[in-house]
Amino acid sequence: MRFYGNRCIIFFAEAHLVKIAPSILAADFARLGDQVREAEAAGADWIHVDVMDGHFVPNITMGPAIVAALRRVTTLPLDVHLMIEEPERYLADFAGAGADRLTVHVETCPHLHSTLEQIRRLGVLPGVTLNPATPLVSIEDVLHQVDLILVMTVEPGFGGQAFIPHSLQRLRRLRTMLAEAGVSPEVEVDGGIDVHTAPQVVAAGATVLVAGTAIFGAPEGIPTALRRLREAARG
Ligand code: DX5
Ligand code: ZN
Repeated sequence: MRFYGNRCIIFFAEAHLVKIAPSILAADFARLGDQVREAEAAGADWIHVDVMDGHFVPNITMGPAIVAALRRVTTLPLDVHLMIEEPERYLADFAGAGADRLTVHVETCPHLHSTLEQIRRLGVLPGVTLNPATPLVSIEDVLHQVDLILVMTVEPGFGGQAFIPHSLQRLRRLRTMLAEAGVSPEVEVDGGIDVHTAPQVVAAGATVLVAGTAIFGAPEGIPTALRRLREAARG
């Protein structure tokens, strides 16, 4: 390894902090427990759970029962991404099922301040996310309330979509907003993350990479795919 003064040392430290959150949306649901155990053994940091209701997004996926089942097979943090209308109706159920993080879409929350408070009162870490075309300013007044900001890098609803390149500019602008606000939540990206896009999103400020297809759909298998993604994230 080469050092070029402080700059390189800082970069090296940042690269080590990046977390990988495999999304079970791309897992084999008939073997879900085994696949999650395999991801944990291979060094995954969190497990990302995509909850879809067929209203906010066209797809229907899973609910609190799956979160409870996952809780029994892994000790990794369960990072639950709620792509559902009226999420406040289900927060207690997901918390009770064992979610460690609950992330809501700004587009679904007319009372976002209260919804985030509700999540924290349940003993779960609150996160907020926004679709690719939702202005970043819509989360400006809740930056101090959240532990995580999820920048969608595809339209939510399906795995296996292509990364939207404009997301990089959004990540850089978000970094500026966070610095100005004096807060440092996790900055997570979700959609189209693979060995090609990972170094770009990390350079733009992402600290948590969600990846479904690139891990559970990888022909080389979960451990090799995870190792390659981590190496790519290091730049
Ligand atoms: C999309 C979901 C993602 C999805 C990502 O709405 O939020 O978490 O699983 O899938 P890939 O990594 O295949 O783009
Ligand atoms: Zn997701």
